[in-house]
Parts: sequence; structure tokens; C-alpha cells
Amino acid sequence: METRIEKNIDHAIKLLKTNQVVAIPTETVYGLAGNALHPETILKIYEVKQRPRFDPLIVHTDQLQKMEKFVEYIPDIIYKLAESFSPGPLTFVLPKTAAIPDLVTSGLASVAVRIPDHSKTLELLSQLDFPLAAPSANLFGQISPTKAKHVFHQLQNKIPLIIDGGECRVGIESTIVRYKNNQLEVLRLGGTTIDQLKRICKDIAVVTEQSEQIHAPGQLKSHYATRTPMIVGDIPQLLEQYKQKDCAVLSFSKSYTSGKKQIILSEKAELSEAAKKLFNAMHVLDSLQADIILTEEFPPVGLGLAINDRLRRASYREY
Ligand code: TXA
Ligand code: MG
Repeated sequence: METRIEKNIDHAIKLLKTNQVVAIPTETVYGLAGNALHPETILKIYEVKQRPRFDPLIVHTDQLQKMEKFVEYIPDIIYKLAESFSPGPLTFVLPKTAAIPDLVTSGLASVAVRIPDHSKTLELLSQLDFPLAAPSANLFGQISPTKAKHVFHQLQNKIPLIIDGGECRVGIESTIVRYKNNQLEVLRLGGTTIDQLKRICKDIAVVTEQSEQIHAPGQLKSHYATRTPMIVGDIPQLLEQYKQKDCAVLSFSKSYTSGKKQIILSEKAELSEAAKKLFNAMHVLDSLQADIILTEEFPPVGLGLAINDRLRRASYREY
């Protein structure tokens, strides 16, 4: 199957209406989208992505009201958060109704929903009478795509179409929250920061650490992985330790080597710029055939928390 890359959404609408899967741009990362109400299409998504079925998908809509028939209820606090942050990088986990196929949620009683902030995808969703299930458009376990060409490299010949919406503005996946026992819980750190959420809801628990078994089965330890092994630590010390090796370097704001295989994510030391460029930098460094990629902990505040989470997962290796 030849994979086309198009800026226009008309062809995508036709394909999605006939239960095909299409890569779509969002503000976070590109998604691999299909009709969320059609089990065979959902199976196709899992198959193309080579994703295990125990890892549930996020359902995308352009208006929270449209989800009312697919969820049991929407707590007031979720409406309030949506008012402030949707469209945007925030996903809500809500109790699902039977209208959402069990395949979408991997058998969980809840469904994850978000309104992505990208004009092309919002236009697309407004023209469909069903929501779109979409995981990130990478192969399972690999780096998430923030450009159409990243999707093409991983999924060419497996899907008919990629909508090119340019480089993703946020660059890391959405923050996932749910409301449980009168408390807002953060299940995945992402593009909406805890500080932003706290402006709307004071009492927040971050439960991402235990999430692997219980809350978000997709929060696997080894994820977003580069093929080149990646090590997080003190870069100068690591450069000394691995001086016999061909090292690539991924740093926040400082330059650590005169070698060519270095990417500085934000010379101005801005976390939002670093987040936006992170996955592309991982794609690029991974293609340089270095022995290892050395990187560092980012400041553990704001988007730095979500970046550190991605780096930790990318560097995790089961020995
Ligand atoms: O920014 C994003 O969220 C991107 C774009 C494409 O929207 N999507 C994305 O999807 O990151 P994906 O499939 O890579 O990650 C979805 C994660 C799952 O791995 C799982 O951890 C969590 O969402 N999830 C989905 N349904 C859930 C549920 N019912 N309860 C808890 N976690 C859920
Ligand atoms: Mg993903």
C-alpha cells in the first residue's frame, strides 16, 4: 500500500468513513486514527502499530458534549478543566458506556477522551459523526512522531494516508487525568503541567509511578525507546566514562562537546521549546549510528517533569 502525505483533509474524511486508518496531526504528537465505534477498525490500529491489546487507546472528539453518550457521566471538575484546557494536551479518563467497544479500552470500564488542539484535526472531527480512537502514530515502544516524516519512516506502506499538519506545537503527549474518590489523579505527565491544573483544582495526586499495573496499562517502563541505547546522567561524567565509545549528546541548554553528534534542545533554557524538539532530536540522534546517546535530567518543574518521564522510559533497558 502506498502511503500518501497530504495537507488537505478531504481524502482522510473519505478513508475514515470507510473504516480505514489515517495518521493525523495534533498539537502533542501525530496520532494513528480510526472510527472509535467500529471494532474492526480498532483492531487495524493495534495491528499497524504492533501494539499489545492490553494498552488502551485515547478517543478524540471536537466537543466534550459529543462524548455524553459514550460516558456514564462527566464530573463538574472535568467540565471545568475542559473549559480551561480543551482543546489542548489534556486527556480525561471517564466511566464508559457500552457504545464504546471494549477493544478501545482493553476491557477497562473507563475510556480516555481528549480534544486535540490542531485546526486540521478539529475540522476533520467536526465533519465525522463518530469520534476517533488514536494512539500515537509510532510503532509500539518506539519514539513518538512530531512530524509527518517521522510517521512515514515508521508506518510507510502500512497506512494509506498521513495528513501533514506541520511540526507538533507541544511535542510530548497529553497529560492524562481522572477524577476518583473526590480527587483529581494524574495518570500520565504530559503537555499540561501540574501547576496549570492546580489553578483549577487544588487537590491533585500524581499516581504515575504505580500506573503500570493498575491505572494506565500503557505506561510501560520501556517506551519511546531509541535503538541506540540512551543513558541519563551527568553528561561530562558520562563522556569521561564512555570516552572509548562514539557518544551522541542530547542536552537541555548547554554544550558539552565539540563533536558533531550533539543536540541542544533550548539554548534559552526554555522547557516548552525543549519539549517541542525532544522527540525529533531523539529521531535524529538515533539515526547517527552512535554507540550510545548521553542525556541528562531536566529541571524537575513544569514540562521538565514530563520530559524526564519520557527520558527515563526511553533509557530503560531490561538486562
Ligand atoms: O497526546 C496524546 O495523548 C496522543 C495524541 C495522538 O492524542 N496520544 C497518545 O496515545 O499518547 P497513546 O496510545 O500513545 O497513549 C495512550 C495512553 C495509554 O497507553 C494508556 O496509558 C492511557 O492512555 N489510557 C488509555 N485509556 C485509558 C484508561 N481507560 N484508563 C487509564 N489510562 C488509559
Ligand atoms: Mg504512545
